[in-house]
Amino acid sequence: MQVTKTIKATRDQIREWKKAGYSIGLVPTMGFLHEGHASLIKKCREENDKVVVSVFVNPTQFGPNEDLEDYPRDFERDCALCESIGADLIFHPEPEEMYQDACAYVSINTLSDTLCGKTRPIHFKGVCTVVSKLFNIVTPDNAYFGQKDAQQLAIIRKMVKDLNFDIRIVGCPIIREEDGLAKSSRNTYLNSEERKAALCLSRAVRKGQEIISDGCISESVLKEMREIVESEPLARIDYISVVDALTMQPVDQVDRDVLVAMAVYIGKTRLIDNFSYEVQK
Ligand code: PAJ
Repeated sequence: MQVTKTIKATRDQIREWKKAGYSIGLVPTMGFLHEGHASLIKKCREENDKVVVSVFVNPTQFGPNEDLEDYPRDFERDCALCESIGADLIFHPEPEEMYQDACAYVSINTLSDTLCGKTRPIHFKGVCTVVSKLFNIVTPDNAYFGQKDAQQLAIIRKMVKDLNFDIRIVGCPIIREEDGLAKSSRNTYLNSEERKAALCLSRAVRKGQEIISDGCISESVLKEMREIVESEPLARIDYISVVDALTMQPVDQVDRDVLVAMAVYIGKTRLIDNFSYEVQK
């Protein structure tokens, strides 16, 4: 497995692989890899001749008061995990390599105005910009994203369509701890009391999945989910919302495919969880 730090070295390798006729899969990550990331890399391994994983804590997707400095990092462990799954290349640039004196950005309207975009106004502009750059550097055939970040996945799909990237986007299911908590690099911020409290997210998700049905009123689902989270003293709801699965706009009634998504602060840590629901066709 190779590790590249520059755009040029990465492009040189990709060019060779393309000349040899290999298909290329990309898994973009911010590192501190866990089984959620591993599931994407495994899927990528199954479907491509060459597997590229990017490990880059992208500064442009963090707001001024967010956790850029504290974001957990362990590149050696990330390398070992990628190697064990059979990745071929890790692209691990420094921020200066990716941005220097950049003035051009990629942003997306409407889909980024709701849910996480409301609390994190510059977040998706940073995500779209870095993912576009990674797409241009690696030029993959397939790229892998987790349903854990469902709004991000919807935004990337729309960006790829609107900007005509010739890349297939593959969405992968949420990987959870045994007790239900969605795996996340940010779970390391939780102390043992908060770790227990954090289970209110997955409990609310399970409840929502049980009671949602075709045509039901969104508020009736949200009310029960909210009650579960609000009964946890360490939890503070940022949002819980039912949105159209494609446009990310709130819907009052489940009369189309929807995403039910939530962000909840447990102490100072902001965690997200969600489920998708498809109406009977
Ligand atoms: P990061 O949070 O490192 O996540 C990288 C990828 O792993 C994302 O597609 C995310 O949805 C997926 N993932 C994380 N936890 C998961 C879980 N429990 N189950 C399934 N998939 C999971 O998302 C980012 O990085 C960044 O925004 C990025 C796309 C790399 C752009 O900087």
